[in-house]
Formats: sequence, structure tokens, C-alpha cells
Amino acid sequence: MTHNRCRLAVLGSGRGSNFKAVAENCTRDDFPVEIVVLVTDNPDAGAIGIAEEYGIPWRYVDVGEKRGHMKPGSEQQIVDILGDFGVELVFLAGFMRILKEPLLNGFPNKILNIHPSLLPSFKGLKAQRQALEYGVKIAGCSVHFVDKSVDGGPIILQAAVPVEDGDDSDALAHRILAEEHRIASEAIKIVAGGAFRVEGRRVLLEP
Ligand code: GRF
Repeated sequence: MTHNRCRLAVLGSGRGSNFKAVAENCTRDDFPVEIVVLVTDNPDAGAIGIAEEYGIPWRYVDVGEKRGHMKPGSEQQIVDILGDFGVELVFLAGFMRILKEPLLNGFPNKILNIHPSLLPSFKGLKAQRQALEYGVKIAGCSVHFVDKSVDGGPIILQAAVPVEDGDDSDALAHRILAEEHRIASEAIKIVAGGAFRVEGRRVLLEP
């Protein structure tokens, strides 16, 4: 009964805990999504072992050494892989590269990212540390559509967690991560189901 599920690709650079959380939900018969491929830019990514554990095909793409960027041609390679797997929706789960035209044009409004802050606060790297150092009392995470901006596309879901006085950034990151694992699948399910509309910056859920 997998033929009419939404075909999701996950792009990840590291540990892969969000990937795993989504993969686990995809094993449920009532979850309307299947992960058809993992693409990684890191041959040592923990996500690769998770893909193998769940029987999900994976591909490595050499996107070059320049931090945050993808060398010419490599982004098109990713688009081609996604095409080969008939991908309909893309989830960036800790993919540490900025997307440009090939992916953004290939999958308009079909790419989701998860970010460990309550956007628009604390964009970019080490968001949990930024939150702690700023002194906020409430932190959290966001799933948003990806556009040309960095961590700036329309927000689909957010979840908040308290910042405790004794937190260091690892403790805060750990608390946020539990919420990431929950809203990642929830947001993917919403977008896969199509019961939403985007009005300006607002993503409105339809009953
Ligand atoms: C998560 O905190 C995610 O929000 C950020 O990168 C981290 C990836 O962690 N974009 P994991 O690889 O999913 O464990």
C-alpha cells in the first residue's frame, strides 16, 4: 500500500536524528509519506547508517569544500537524483548547504527545512547557542518552506520549549530536538496532504 504515498527525499549532512524520526513514522501504515532516498554531502554522515537500517536508498554527492555552498553542477546532480527517484517533496534535515536555483526551481514550495529556533530569531548556525547567549526564556524550533533566503521562508509549524537557568547549549539543544522530532513529521504530513495554502508569509492550514 505504498503506491499513493507522497514520495519524500531527505537531504542531510550529519547525525540524522530528524531523518530517523521521520523514517520511523513512515513505517506506519497510516502515515501518508514514504522516504524514497536520502541524499548526503557527507560520506561519514550518521544518516547513512539510519538509511541502511530502514532500507532506504542513499546517495552521496560531492558538493565541494566551500562551507555552506555547493560547487557548480553538484546541485543539478542532486536534482537529477531526485528526478530518478520520482521525488515529490524534499525535507532538509540538517543539510548544511544553501540551496540555489536548480533545487529551488525544480521543487517550488516543495522543500521544507527544520531549524532549531523560533524563527525569525536566531537564523544561521548554532541557533541554540545564539538563543542562550541572547538570554531568551523561551526557545524552540521551526519547520518552514525553503526559498532564496537563509532560514527565511514561510513558517509551517513551530514548537516552543523553556530555557532553564542551568542550561548550557547542549542541554537546550537536547530539549529543542525532542520537539524537532515531533514537528518534522507533522509538517511533512501537512504539506504532503496538501491541506494548506500560503498567503504572503502565512501558511494557513485547511480543515
Ligand atoms: C537539527 O538541530 C536541525 O534543526 C538543524 O540541524 C540539526 C540536525 O540534526 N537544521 P539531525 O542531523 O537531524 O540529528
